[in-house]
Amino acid sequence: MAASYEQVFENNKQWVEEMKGSDADFFDKLAEGQQPDYLYIGCSDSRVPANQVMGLEPGDVFVHRNVANMVVNTDLNVMSVINYSVVHLKVKHIIVCGHYNCGGVKAAMTSQDLGILNPWLRNIRDVYRMHRDELDSIANEHDRYNRLVELNVQEQCINVIKTAEVQQQYAANNFPVVHGWVFDLKTGLLKDLNVDFEETLNNIKEIYDITPNG
Ligand code: CO
Repeated sequence: MAASYEQVFENNKQWVEEMKGSDADFFDKLAEGQQPDYLYIGCSDSRVPANQVMGLEPGDVFVHRNVANMVVNTDLNVMSVINYSVVHLKVKHIIVCGHYNCGGVKAAMTSQDLGILNPWLRNIRDVYRMHRDELDSIANEHDRYNRLVELNVQEQCINVIKTAEVQQQYAANNFPVVHGWVFDLKTGLLKDLNVDFEETLNNIKEIYDITPNG
């Protein structure tokens, strides 16, 4: 299934020829700059490649991936990606995309010491704690696991909306809008969790408002 190391370079040359075949200037245009409409924040899982599942080309989507698609307030990496894409690229949509069968979420549901992963996964355990009543009421473990995947996406959407960049850009331009999705590995389909962006924004602004005069 996986290509050998040498094969990757052959694949690359073949891809270059294919792209040039459909548009001779493809790479010249690519080198000129980017104006993506989407910021995608997803899991690092090798089975969920952002561009492919969305059917988008190079230049269409700004991507950040980490273990279990987390938006941690003190993570300089994800916060820099949000800042750059919202303030400078002016993306119209921000997507947090989780996936069922996520190993990171699974690990957060088990009692074990995973070293450096502990503080990262603790953020998912915090999501469990916030939604403990709902999750504990689900008897089937696999259903509970799937629900935690969804609730984690919802909470990470809220974390995106808490940022000053998103609140201020939205107040000025009516975008970006934040969406929560889950990718189903068994069907290949994306499920929109229909996060109500306006309602979520208004709710969290009671505590997290960062729009002076807004
Ligand atoms: Co995952």
